[in-house]
Amino acid sequence: MDVMLKISVEQLTKVPMLASESTCSGKTYIVTGSNTGLGLETARHLVNFTAARVILAVRNLAAGEKAKQDIEKSTGRQGVVEVWQLDMASYASIQAFAKKASAEVERIDGFVANAGVMVDKWQLVEGMEITIFVNVIGTVFLAALMLPQLVASGRKYDTHPTFAFVGSALSYSAKGEVDKSRTGGFFNGFNDQKRASLAQRYSLSKLVEECAARQFAALCLVEQTGVVMNIVAPGMCWTGLGRDTGSVTKAVLAGLRATGARTPEVGSRVIVSGLVMGDESHGKLISGSKIKEHWQPTWFSNAEGQQLQKDIWKELVDILETVQPGCISQLS
Ligand SMILES: NC(=O)c1ccc[n+]([C@@H]2O[C@H](COP(=O)([O-])OP(=O)(O)OC[C@H]3O[C@@H](n4cnc5c(N)ncnc54)[C@H](OP(=O)(O)O)[C@@H]3O)[C@@H](O)[C@H]2O)c1
Repeated sequence: MDVMLKISVEQLTKVPMLASESTCSGKTYIVTGSNTGLGLETARHLVNFTAARVILAVRNLAAGEKAKQDIEKSTGRQGVVEVWQLDMASYASIQAFAKKASAEVERIDGFVANAGVMVDKWQLVEGMEITIFVNVIGTVFLAALMLPQLVASGRKYDTHPTFAFVGSALSYSAKGEVDKSRTGGFFNGFNDQKRASLAQRYSLSKLVEECAARQFAALCLVEQTGVVMNIVAPGMCWTGLGRDTGSVTKAVLAGLRATGARTPEVGSRVIVSGLVMGDESHGKLISGSKIKEHWQPTWFSNAEGQQLQKDIWKELVDILETVQPGCISQLS
């Protein structure tokens, strides 16, 4: 069966189960983009599951405070949630967040790189198209800066912390987009407005993010670091994703979601499952709360796909090492 058809069938026929409460008790989690949507519901599950500390990493502190109050009211648990500033469209903000975490968070059991955007207008941040910057470059930069902290926490508390990238099975629909960006270097191609199809940009960003996450995990084996890195795909959900798009894109999104999108609460169960799945999920895609490696299309799992992942990773390393020398080359 075609990959996209398999994904649609699962979306329509299976409801992801919520992981067991006991695995999160007393632990510390950080969730980016957690003032709304999937991030908010992930944080709410973790608080409900008696986590000791849950940090909402958000760009809008007022929205974060509102989310905190909402979680406290619905769970009846106070003194667990903290709201921290993080703008994923800024290198400086990502660096400041990682520095604060290094100073103020000794234990990290799970980190969810959830913040993401879908736009339909060309916009640059840090010299790069915003979707590619926020969903890929900023996300991988944050992962690189947080990894040593997860490694240290794992060693100190004898645990295997998880870094979960929130991906999307839509990524596999973007092969054409990635292929047409190849000439002259992928990231130059992604930044070439003439070659870009903004209708495909979000899917492209999720494909590039998955390529990077897989290569990152392949280079930082859990046997060496004690840190699990995986990719969680929550399925199509009714969230604010795409809220800044124009009326045509909004209408297309509403039409798609009407075919069977999950609530953010149901979608966030997949993210929680990724946080508690452990070593076997390292470098793998999780959907419907199960590892779904067989979902990869052949062009992605074969030698061509492996090379694509390596090439994208190499370019990303070059970009990030220019911003902060050693951020990847000196990872343990
Ligand atoms: N919804 C789906 O169907 C679906 C399916 C698969 C994967 N995903 C992924 O799930 C993740 C969460 O999306 P969602 O569906 O929950 O969408 P959402 O409701 O729009 O939430 C996105 C979150 O990301 C935050 N964000 C955006 N840009 C940011 C920035 N520059 N810095 C910090 N935070 C930023 C948003 O903050 P503001 O509120 O301040 O904008 C918001 O908290 C994304 O990575 C998305 O790609 C979603």
